[in-house]
Amino acid sequence: MHESSRPRDFLAALDSALRLPLRRQLAEEIREGCRSGRLAAGVSLPSSRALAQQLSVSRGVVSDAYAQLASEGYIAQIPRRAPIVLGQPVRERSEVLELPPEYGKWRHRTWRYDLTSITPDLARFPRLAWAAALRETLRTIPDTALDYNDPRGPLVFRTAVCEYLARARGCDVDPTTTVAVAGFTQGLYLACSALRRHGATAIAVEDPCLKDYLPTVRLCGLEAVAIPVDAEGLRTELLAQHDVQAVIVTPAHQFPTGAVLSPARRKHLIEWASEQGAYVIENDYDAEYQYDRAAVGALQGRDPRRVIYVGTASKMLAPALRIGWIHAPRELLDAICHIHWHLGGGTPVVELFAFAQLLAQGELERHLRRTRALYQVRRRRLLAALESELPGFELRGASAGVHLTIEIPHGIDAAAVAESLAERHVLIETLREYAVDPRNAMSGVLIGYARLHESQILPVVRLLAAVVAEQLPSPERRRP
Ligand SMILES: Cc1ncc(COP(=O)(O)O)c(C=O)c1O
Repeated sequence: MHESSRPRDFLAALDSALRLPLRRQLAEEIREGCRSGRLAAGVSLPSSRALAQQLSVSRGVVSDAYAQLASEGYIAQIPRRAPIVLGQPVRERSEVLELPPEYGKWRHRTWRYDLTSITPDLARFPRLAWAAALRETLRTIPDTALDYNDPRGPLVFRTAVCEYLARARGCDVDPTTTVAVAGFTQGLYLACSALRRHGATAIAVEDPCLKDYLPTVRLCGLEAVAIPVDAEGLRTELLAQHDVQAVIVTPAHQFPTGAVLSPARRKHLIEWASEQGAYVIENDYDAEYQYDRAAVGALQGRDPRRVIYVGTASKMLAPALRIGWIHAPRELLDAICHIHWHLGGGTPVVELFAFAQLLAQGELERHLRRTRALYQVRRRRLLAALESELPGFELRGASAGVHLTIEIPHGIDAAAVAESLAERHVLIETLREYAVDPRNAMSGVLIGYARLHESQILPVVRLLAAVVAEQLPSPERRRP
């Protein structure tokens, strides 16, 4: 282990006239110090407050630089202690397998503006409430609950979740047929594997949809069939043209277009499933964030026999918790439990007890009320900024979730806009990235506002408008 020492002063030459942001200059200075040995392993760095004072920069500059270096393995950050230099990270000393980017380009911390559509504002994670719930759980959890146990997860978790789903989402759910899972993704895997065991061979997916669906569906031996989406959500009338035994939908807030499945299509979808003996996998991934209108309830309440409902804590709390729940019709439950058990026996129980505590004590809903209000303010500011900086650009989708999409007009390449913004350290995703069949691809970009501080909204929209203007076809090119 590294020997800690008194915090050392650190001399860094930062230049605010350079285009490179100060936090990146500072990170590079420390990185270089680690590589060259100027900062030996075990040395303590000054606290972010002390170094900020020493360098006459804001504390955020130092905290960001430290967070970046910690993520790269150069330093260790320990709560309430000065960061410690670890030296040169392992991956620089030897050949280490680099994982492909599918595991999260949003994990890079060097973005000046992070417009990811996927994750909530992690700075708002209710650390104190979570810590209290964990402490209380460890104090009170029965010894027997720490043994190998029911693959559905503890009853206390399933009961709290079902009570919440019935009350807040209008679901018709029962703890006996509810299973705790590691997020939506594992719920989808279990649902698809169970369907495969019941003879399914193909499953319809919305086009566009979350990219992760396809590998998961294929891992389970199912074929994915793309069904286009329009302003009313999934085009359910097209389902009859395909030999599929199930469909994955996001009825409350289609991802990524933001459409809400219209009442006529909800009805049609349930009728199709009943007539075909098919299943609807409902992904209710961000239903807790609905603004300025009556909340859209879950589809599951309309027909619990045909809908497999999957929910997640990834948007309400944090994706890394890997907490979710699946409620399935009884005939699929044996297969789901069997696969879940043989994949590892269930979901970590201490966290499930803590989550149940947050729910039972109303802490989770307090957190949701606070974050809902915050995201609503960010959304309104974003809409105002878009209206002033990109007038005439069409917005898509309902007032919900943590992102909106804007159409990029014909003649402008949305991918080029995203690339150009990436060069300016802005993360933005295009609708095309989520297309299953490239022929259905829509032209647009997704703007996630969960992680945008209010003060960042106008500057980033101005940057977007400037990049869009650069991509406009020149008058010469427009001439025939
Ligand atoms: C459409 C969609 N489904 C599901 C999820 C969550 O997946 P998981 O629960 O596996 O983190 C997300 C991300 O929050 C999402 O955007």
